[in-house]
Amino acid sequence: MMSNEIFFKPVTIGRRQAVNCFAYQPTETNNCHESGSPGSVTFDVYRERAKGKPGLLFIESVDVNTDCQARSNRMVLNESTKEGFRKLVSEIKKISPETLVLFQMSHAGRLSDPGFREPLFVYARTDGETIMTTEEVRKAAADFAAAALLADEIGADGVDLKQAHGFLAGDFLHPANNRKDEYGGSFENRTRFFSEVFKAVKSSCSSNFIIGTRISPYEGIPGGCGSAGADSVIEDLTEMEEYVRILEKMGIDFINVSAGYAAANLEILLPTATFPEGVYRHFSWTRQIKKQISIPVIGSGYSHPADGNNSLTASDVSKKSTLYFAGRNLAEGNVDFIGLGRQCIADPLFALKVKEGRESEINWCTTCSGCGMQLGGNEQVSCTVYKN
Ligand SMILES: Cc1cc2nc3c(=O)[nH]c(=O)nc-3n(C[C@H](O)[C@H](O)[C@H](O)COP(=O)(O)O)c2cc1C
Repeated sequence: MMSNEIFFKPVTIGRRQAVNCFAYQPTETNNCHESGSPGSVTFDVYRERAKGKPGLLFIESVDVNTDCQARSNRMVLNESTKEGFRKLVSEIKKISPETLVLFQMSHAGRLSDPGFREPLFVYARTDGETIMTTEEVRKAAADFAAAALLADEIGADGVDLKQAHGFLAGDFLHPANNRKDEYGGSFENRTRFFSEVFKAVKSSCSSNFIIGTRISPYEGIPGGCGSAGADSVIEDLTEMEEYVRILEKMGIDFINVSAGYAAANLEILLPTATFPEGVYRHFSWTRQIKKQISIPVIGSGYSHPADGNNSLTASDVSKKSTLYFAGRNLAEGNVDFIGLGRQCIADPLFALKVKEGRESEINWCTTCSGCGMQLGGNEQVSCTVYKN
């Protein structure tokens, strides 16, 4: 039986320290006011998550402006919503002053919902997709910087500048990005958008402010991140490995590793019983990225193993559980933070229960995908198994 001590050692991130290795990953709650400011349900959700006292608590995907939204009730951080978010951070800090609160800043790009927002295309994948002008690209970069600055101003400890899952910032990186301006074509050009965003955020935010990014080193789409070329479906992480080394040199504070592309392959993004080995793939991608750099790396895919009652291949239940894999990956240096998505929807008190040795009381996520279906249906997200 592995001791839980390994989870509760402080972890340095940027100039700050997280009190434990549990990172509650960004998970959209889809319950904001139309303006994008947090509503009463949003407060309830994040108060519960704060009670779990994770080392890192990500505030779900927060849009950097109102013209780039994948759903109608998503968070938006701007001058008119910032006071709501100031209150949200302060409520979380009242409950768990030791938890570092990070906003995930995002721009949905081509995933913006055409029902109420114009999708913005970095490059054309099919006929009829009009690509963003260079001015629109620069505006999007400026929006990221402005929103991150607001996050700093209202008391957040940091930001995750989202490049994962097919959101705008990640599309620039694609080998298939054949834009003719300085944001497409060569690898240097394809990394320019994020590098400009990062430099703007770094130069305007306070020195202790943590700045990181979530990436999908493997997206599983032709010509996407982690593919061998513009029209290739072969997995090849060479460019993404080089990319994270560049990001570290630029001064980024952490890399949050995910995988998959939201509009194409949720089974990669969200491992379930249908393809449980997806869990192992997440661990492998994370390890591969971690080998390149010395800044902290957050891993994903830890919800499906749960208490070990799953369809993973090991016969010994104690050797295929969330805590087993988390402890082992930390001990082997494969990861620095254990990211939890659906598990913290199922049980926001997860980290606290582990700390207090109350594993038998944990509501283990069944990875039934009920929460994901709610999100897809543009409904408010909550656990459909346990009533939190
Ligand atoms: C309902 C729901 C909402 C999500 N929202 C986000 C989000 O806002 N930003 C993000 O980067 N990932 C989001 N994800 C992905 C999770 O952060 C996480 O990567 C994924 O659930 C896999 O981790 P898990 O196996 O621990 O659940 C979401 C997942 C779910 C199920």
